[in-house]
Amino acid sequence: MSKLDDIVSLCKRRGFIFPGSDVYGGFAGTWDFGPLGVTLKKKIMDEWWKFFVEDREDIYGIDAAILMNPKTWEASGHTATFADPLVECKECKSRFRADKIADGINESVTTEEFLATHTKCPVCGKENWGPIRKFNMMFLTHVGAVLPDDDKEVAEKNIAYLRPETAQGIFTNYKNVIDTIYPDLPFGLAQQGKAFRNEISPRDFILRDRECSQMEIEYFVNPNTWEENFETMRSLQHEFLENILELPKNKIHELEVPAEDRAHYSKRTIDFMFDYPNGEEELMGLAYRTDFDLSNIARESGKSMDYRDKKTNEVFIPHVIEPSIGVERLFLAVLSTAYSKDEINGEKRVFLKLPENLAPYKFCVSPLLKNKPELVEKAKEVYNLLRKKYSNVTWDDSGNIGKRYRKQDEIGTPKCIVIDFETLENDTITIRDRNTTEQIRKSISEL
Ligand code: GAP
Repeated sequence: MSKLDDIVSLCKRRGFIFPGSDVYGGFAGTWDFGPLGVTLKKKIMDEWWKFFVEDREDIYGIDAAILMNPKTWEASGHTATFADPLVECKECKSRFRADKIADGINESVTTEEFLATHTKCPVCGKENWGPIRKFNMMFLTHVGAVLPDDDKEVAEKNIAYLRPETAQGIFTNYKNVIDTIYPDLPFGLAQQGKAFRNEISPRDFILRDRECSQMEIEYFVNPNTWEENFETMRSLQHEFLENILELPKNKIHELEVPAEDRAHYSKRTIDFMFDYPNGEEELMGLAYRTDFDLSNIARESGKSMDYRDKKTNEVFIPHVIEPSIGVERLFLAVLSTAYSKDEINGEKRVFLKLPENLAPYKFCVSPLLKNKPELVEKAKEVYNLLRKKYSNVTWDDSGNIGKRYRKQDEIGTPKCIVIDFETLENDTITIRDRNTTEQIRKSISEL
């Protein structure tokens, strides 16, 4: 089994991540976070929010609706250009994203360029392809009382899309924010939330999903200062990834995206790549979106997106620097970094070396023996004491103590506290460290 297979198996076994709609055989490109997964995911998201919003004076949060007026996607260019190159095998009818099955081509590949790669169908092995067709990845739905027998015109009038990026919920609220709190430039608006993409080939566990969560900031700047602000945002991303989430610096690689590979709105993009167990993949992007979005909104809505500088009275449409990160990709970066194996006294073990601020539980409390009421009672006392102080404390009295340690190691609990007969005599407990497995004795009052 590869390391990724090991992680997928641990995620399911220990309640981090389950396949979406598992009970019905799954639903490609969707994943459900179980009790431990949702806790870890939320901690990652909360660290991001604290670092970029709460601890700063220049970035504010918003939470916009997922369903947006379809004009949003006309103005943003998504209706016209948010498409991947789809190719169909004429032999077995399987469909693929062309740039993911052939080497040396990108998303704007033409039929001729693709055919010249002489790629064989990954399913039937034949080389008999149809033309490259552009496949728009937005999920389409209808809003309001649209019936199956309504005519095409009624249905079309009520079309809406599930948002493919959270960013547009920010851009469309830029004017509301300016009109209400009028922040000084540069300032940012941050949002966390779901985004939906009808990926042709969802793959690599949670790396390419049809439903994912994004954390995005649109940082509005004076156009003359975009370069220095780009650098500020760039170093902040490293600080967050390396200092707060403790991702190893040597696993993060910056990729300057060439013009032909950049999104339609970007004049400069750096992709932050990460060494995942199955190879290097994009973790996040940092883009200079210019005034592309605000200018398009001004045109489409007829409303001014101008900003008046309070000091100089200069009037302009701000430009935008956008750091954008997918929560699932960050989750897998954290998990694959933490996933560790070693051997203690000849016994192999797997443990998650999660940073303390991210571990789903801070402590696990256990009575040495489950069938000794006096130990259980004392352990409950310690458990309740710790829960009052640190809310994320778990209780475990299943199996023997060795099995409990293995389980807590696998879910990344940094400290296991055991109440034994000595505790009843002198109010001391043992604390076992997840990484070293060393145990020390401490008095309960020191916890
Ligand atoms: N607003 C800009 C934007 O959406 P993007 O490069 O398309 O840019 C930003 O996406 C980030 O969102 C990616 O770097 C990745 O972390 C995450 N992401 C995008 N598509 C994803 C997918 N299908 N599954 C999981 N994460 C995805």
